[in-house]
Amino acid sequence: MAIGVQSPDINEHFNKLFTAILLEQQKFDKIKPADEDKKEILAQKLKEYEGLKGRGFFYPFMASGRGHGPFVEMIDGSVKFDLINAIGVNLLGHSHPLYIKANLEAATSDTMMCGNLLSYQEPYELSKLLLDAVKESRMKHFWFSCSGSFSNDTALKILWQKKAPNYRLIAFQKSFAGRSVAMQDVTYNQSYREGMPQTIQVDHVPHYNYRNPDRAIEETISALDKLIETNGNVYCGLTIELIQGEAGFIFGTKEYYKAICEWAKKHGIYIWIDEVQSFTRTHQMFAYQMFDLDQYVDIVTIGKVLQGAGTFYTEELNPKPGLIAGTFNGSIASLNAGKATVRYLKEGNFYGEKGRIKELETKFKAKFKSLSEGSCKGKIPYYGGVGTMLSFEVGDASVDLTNKFMKKLFENGIITFSAGKEPTRVRFLLPLPLLDEHIDEIFSILEKTVLEIVN
Ligand SMILES: Cc1ncc(COP(=O)(O)O)c(C=O)c1O
Repeated sequence: MAIGVQSPDINEHFNKLFTAILLEQQKFDKIKPADEDKKEILAQKLKEYEGLKGRGFFYPFMASGRGHGPFVEMIDGSVKFDLINAIGVNLLGHSHPLYIKANLEAATSDTMMCGNLLSYQEPYELSKLLLDAVKESRMKHFWFSCSGSFSNDTALKILWQKKAPNYRLIAFQKSFAGRSVAMQDVTYNQSYREGMPQTIQVDHVPHYNYRNPDRAIEETISALDKLIETNGNVYCGLTIELIQGEAGFIFGTKEYYKAICEWAKKHGIYIWIDEVQSFTRTHQMFAYQMFDLDQYVDIVTIGKVLQGAGTFYTEELNPKPGLIAGTFNGSIASLNAGKATVRYLKEGNFYGEKGRIKELETKFKAKFKSLSEGSCKGKIPYYGGVGTMLSFEVGDASVDLTNKFMKKLFENGIITFSAGKEPTRVRFLLPLPLLDEHIDEIFSILEKTVLEIVN
């Protein structure tokens, strides 16, 4: 135990508490329907909360705080497979020993939140680990924020200051960058910014055309060339979400991304990779590493699995004092969990062709193959993705049918979320602790649900 107060007495209680919590949480190890007497409690609380929020929820879901591995319990007593993980946050699954430990250790500290002005050991140690993980690149600094959107705002401000007055940004069609005032302009989906004024200048170019891969590089590069022809070289940066989450996990090839990066470098345009969702989830800790882009990246943003967020940047891009600041680094518990997660993933056998993440992907794809060619022939027109970021289509892949399917899947015991429009895909952000028997059960529920919903 490394932080806050320590004594033999605290250590003894800590160990007992840690074990007791883990043993209790481990009881949630299979899916189960709601308890009759608790259904009404869930309905009431959700109705009230919807009133407070001013908006309905997609799923009738409220967690009890109990769950283990891929399983999460709701307050109606039902237990489900959580294959979306708070949209990508809980890679280690529910009540992972490292999360329990991080929370208990944080309780021995004297504060909840850690700030930029008066630092603590947690952000220092986590920064060292993170920067060590990117040491093949030119990035030398890391700045914490409390959301992916804010880490992206930081990246943009750094680029603006460096390239002032060239404030225009290049982004990709179908990408998602967050909900801040700036990021809603970087995000491609116009329906997320209804009634908003245009605040920053962003030009969106086509992303990898998986329907015509032979022409993908040419299509994107000619759109990029056209931007310079039309506007002149007024660009500060090019932002790339390598694995496009909101698009249903669309991604290019090493050659494709290299060609784009070469183009950007040729024009003196900085390369900013948004890994808020992909961080730790592909065949390497960073997706840019999987695509061999180490030499090109200037700025990388991360979030979600970190249990926090932040921005990496090169020495050259280190901004002037005053530009980036803010009260919080994050909570002591989150920074502590981030540190434990990064260390665990770095030291364990998770990455590379023989790593756990590739193994999970292979198992899921094999199952999808047999389902889509077997009992669900013609009903699963697409499955794909990379690492723990997988997606599939059902039926005509329309928004309506996909939503109906996901709600039925939820009732049957699996939580997922959608991505994209025409086609709309069902998205998995898988947790790591999935056993073969879990995968078998997941696919038998998927089969049942496809047959129930898709004609
Ligand atoms: C690629 C990407 N960038 C940025 C964000 C925004 O992160 P946050 O919701 O933590 O602000 C997200 C969130 O889903 C994302 O997927």
